[in-house]
Order: sequence, then C-alpha cells, then structure tokens
Amino acid sequence: MAIKVCVFDAYGTLFDVAAAARVAAEEPGRGALAEVWPQLAADWRAKQLEYSWLRAVTGDYVPFWQVTKDGLDWAMERAGLDDMELRERLLALYWELPAYREVPMMLARLRAQGIGAAILSNGNRDMLNGAVDSAGIGEFLHAVLSVEQVGIFKPARAVYDLVGAEFGCAPDEVLFVSSNGWDAAGAAAYGFETAWVNRMGLPMDRLMAQPKHVLTDLTTIPELV
Ligand code: LAC
Repeated sequence: MAIKVCVFDAYGTLFDVAAAARVAAEEPGRGALAEVWPQLAADWRAKQLEYSWLRAVTGDYVPFWQVTKDGLDWAMERAGLDDMELRERLLALYWELPAYREVPMMLARLRAQGIGAAILSNGNRDMLNGAVDSAGIGEFLHAVLSVEQVGIFKPARAVYDLVGAEFGCAPDEVLFVSSNGWDAAGAAAYGFETAWVNRMGLPMDRLMAQPKHVLTDLTTIPELV
C-alpha cells in the first residue's frame, strides 16, 4: 500500500528530551547539576517511561505531565539534588524542548510530496502544543494526537487506533516513526510500516515485532514514502 500519512512519536523522536538537563547545566550557578546532568537526564527519561508503562498495565492513567514530574523527582533524589528552583527550571525547559536539527527540512519535504504529517504521543495536549509552538513546526502538522483521548499510554493498541480514526486510513498506509525501540516494536506489531530512528546505535529490542526501517536520524524519511 502507498503511504498516505507519516506519524511521528514526539519526545526523543522530534524533540530532544536531554536538552532540558543539558541547557540547565550550562546556566550560571548550576555546578551541582553540571557534574551529573547526563545521568540525571537518563534517569529522568527512564523513570518517566517506566511509570507510563506501569500505569498502563494497572489502568492508573494520569497525564504524561504527571509521570514526567514523578520521574524527575526520582532522578533528582538519586542525584542528591534537593533544589526546588532547579526542579521548576527543568520542568519549564521541558515545555520548550528543541526539535532535532533535521526536523523542519524533513517536514517541509514531506509537505512538498503531499504526504500528511502528524504527531502521536504519550504527551498530554498542553505539553505537546507547547513543544510544537516552541519548535515552530506547527505549520507542517495535520494533527497532534495525544493519548489523553484514550487514557492509556503506548504501546497499547488503543493509542495506535487514534491514527486510523483521525485519517481514515489502513495501518499499512501509515509510516510510523519513533526513536523508542519499544514504540517502534508496538507500532510494527500493530501493522504500521515502521521506521526506528536509532540515534544511539542501540541493539534491536526483543519484542513483538521489528521495524521495517532502521535509520540514524530523520533526514531520509521523505525517501521512504
Ligand atoms: C512520546 C514518548 C514515548 O512522545 O516519547 O510518546
């Protein structure tokens, strides 16, 4: 089937989630963070995702913003950072994460090819709108789909159902793009044609299905459709 729409995961795929800790660590007076920011960023992300999966399993949905805050609190405590001002600064930066460098050009090429583009993310709508506005990519997106509509996190199938409901297309008419190996596996198992953006050269996840494409960044997405 020909691809009609290209659907992107948000955090880690279009937006650089490590940027919040990295940017804060460069600010004056942040010596304690500067020493630990890579570990803090990794722990924050890992806990945010872990909490999303566990809440999906138990049915205890809360907005992604809540698991983002909970993950940060765990990561800061582990790092020995007891600093409310820093916490607020890191959370504020999460609303203005930069898009990866190649994103605007890649989306512009998709638009020129007549392919629809959308986000499908665990993020709640407010967070996503903040990141999209801050990165200036709203003009390229036909839809910003949030799991908020179904009250469960990826990789639950109900989340991937949102794409067909929005665009009226079959799964194999969708190219789903994620930098998260587990999300790429879930999307591939669902039936989307899937591209995994493996920026860090990680091993393939041993899960339900494997993505058809493995890329190092988003530059060549328009060539897949
Ligand atoms: C998202 C997370 C998984 O944007 O990165 O859905």
